[in-house]
Amino acid sequence: MVRENRLAASDLIWPLFITEGNSHSEPIDSLPGVSRWSVDLIVERAREAVDLGIPCLALFPNTQAYRRSADAAEALNPDNLMCRAIRVVKDALGDKIGILTDVALDPYTSHGQDGLIDDHGYVENDRTLDMLTKQALNQANAGADIIAPSDMMDGRVAAIRDTLELASHHNVQIMAYSAKYASAFYGPFRDAVGSSGALKGDKKTYQMDPANGDEAMREIAMDIAEGADSVMVKPGLAYLDIIFRAKQRFDVPVYAYQVSGEYALVKTGAAAGVGDHDALMMEKLVAFKRAGCSGILTYFAADAAKLLQQ
Ligand code: PBG
Repeated sequence: MVRENRLAASDLIWPLFITEGNSHSEPIDSLPGVSRWSVDLIVERAREAVDLGIPCLALFPNTQAYRRSADAAEALNPDNLMCRAIRVVKDALGDKIGILTDVALDPYTSHGQDGLIDDHGYVENDRTLDMLTKQALNQANAGADIIAPSDMMDGRVAAIRDTLELASHHNVQIMAYSAKYASAFYGPFRDAVGSSGALKGDKKTYQMDPANGDEAMREIAMDIAEGADSVMVKPGLAYLDIIFRAKQRFDVPVYAYQVSGEYALVKTGAAAGVGDHDALMMEKLVAFKRAGCSGILTYFAADAAKLLQQ
């Protein structure tokens, strides 16, 4: 009766990995319980989400190695894996499910960076912006409902908003990965999209220093000024203070991404007898609500929604 915060299936956004093939799925070793799905099976997952009351999917492609290149040209292919998955899910389910798409070049670059690099491997902000706007437009044309730039280039939210408006995609939203940290918790995700082997160096020239909090507020303020409809803090649990500060300060919906490493730690911890799996999962998820989140991107989405149904 006096409980202040409640987790609901409607709070959850379910990240799903896509792979080529038909009726094909591949478990991801570093992400227990998570698989890559071929497009036809993504539709099944989407139906499952609808049945569970999950409002939105976040799609990530595992691009075939031969389609990756230094210039990430595959990101702009209207028939790439991502666009095919968006179209098939939208054809099957329409507005019953939302689709959020990641804008960043890492699933398409041979070097695994989120942007285009110069001769020294430095990620070039402004040259990358042009690619990101075209990538976002490609996703919106395929039917994406929410564009989520996760690349951390400066100025990308404004550039993407302008591009969407000019193409009459007035109703496509932008959820900005505004406070995205250069985190050690992304490892299993990079395995899932197949970029970990390729990645040289780190992403510290564009992702944030885990020691910084004020900078996150500046990043969020910029993205809102540029036209973001909602903002994200990523990773989640180690950054609850950033979520809390963002919610106190800005009147936009704030989302958390409980990232791959956070998820895997619960799975492996529970398997090692640290605690009860479901209890660990639910305690972590409700913490995001308490901190002020409007919703959570989590690999636990289906598991948690099932538990909530019972
Ligand atoms: C792409 C991207 C990453 C994640 C989401 N989008 C990886 C990265 O920045 O290296 C990580 C998500 C997760 O770990 O679950 N830029």
